[in-house]
Amino acid sequence: MEKLHNLDDKDFQAILNYKDLLISNAKKLASLDPNDYYWKELTNEASLVRNGMFLESNMVESWVGATRKPKRILEIGTRTGGSLIALLCDYPKSDFESIEEIVSFDMWREYVSTTPMATFLSKLMGKKRNINISERFTKWVGSYVEKASTGKVLKNLAAFNIPTGKIKFVSGDSTIKIPEYFTKNPGKKFDYILVDGGHSVEVATKDLDNVVAHIDKGGIILFDDIMPESYNLIGVWNKFTEKNLNDFDFFEIHSRKGIAFAIKK
Ligand SMILES: C[S@@+](CC[C@H](N)C(=O)[O-])C[C@H]1O[C@@H](n2cnc3c(N)ncnc32)[C@H](O)[C@@H]1O
Repeated sequence: MEKLHNLDDKDFQAILNYKDLLISNAKKLASLDPNDYYWKELTNEASLVRNGMFLESNMVESWVGATRKPKRILEIGTRTGGSLIALLCDYPKSDFESIEEIVSFDMWREYVSTTPMATFLSKLMGKKRNINISERFTKWVGSYVEKASTGKVLKNLAAFNIPTGKIKFVSGDSTIKIPEYFTKNPGKKFDYILVDGGHSVEVATKDLDNVVAHIDKGGIILFDDIMPESYNLIGVWNKFTEKNLNDFDFFEIHSRKGIAFAIKK
């Protein structure tokens, strides 16, 4: 795809209009959780503009939430809740009632980077971003990290008055947990699936392959970080489109980190 995107121009413009919402959400989250560098980065508008354009994946998620209002939501890679907040914060409040379920899969490997200790050590080491500590070192506090991470997600969502009663967390490696989940729930379908967990070619490929049969007709699969400025997962996406060519319409946005999505026919 040579062009910046292959969406309808009206849809693309509608996504660009979510910039102010994203920045105001990021400012609110940055003040709520100053140790989470994600929010600070997202408030720095000038540093995120590419070729005169400000386009972040969370804006696409907000557009999907507002225009499609998915009721059965599955997310791989929730981190501290940014993508769920983006998806749900512009929902008409009356539509919250009709949400059936939200299933969040994460192994919470970035939790340590959002703690005061990481802020302290990163400043000491002169790092621009908060350091993280591999789960190799944190697994002995696994249940603590899980509790603290899911607590943080719930707290962040609550700050946006997003009801959290329908969220179910599944903690662990998605390449194991997703197949386990669908073995137990073989007929389950979703109308929104975000794949934003592990960013290696292997894990991202498995995640897409493991969820594809579980998106309902008219549902949408979002896939983050396709561009070289990020994890450059365009090759993974291209293979996914080849495998599923007849069943979906495919869309890509090639700005900054880049995001792609597929709508089930
Ligand atoms: C880029 S962050 C997600 C960002 C989030 N969607 C947002 O927009 O704010 C990636 C998340 O995926 C999780 N993750 C990484 N590898 C994973 C794996 N193999 N299984 C489950 N979760 C994983 C990390 O713990 C992290 O929270």
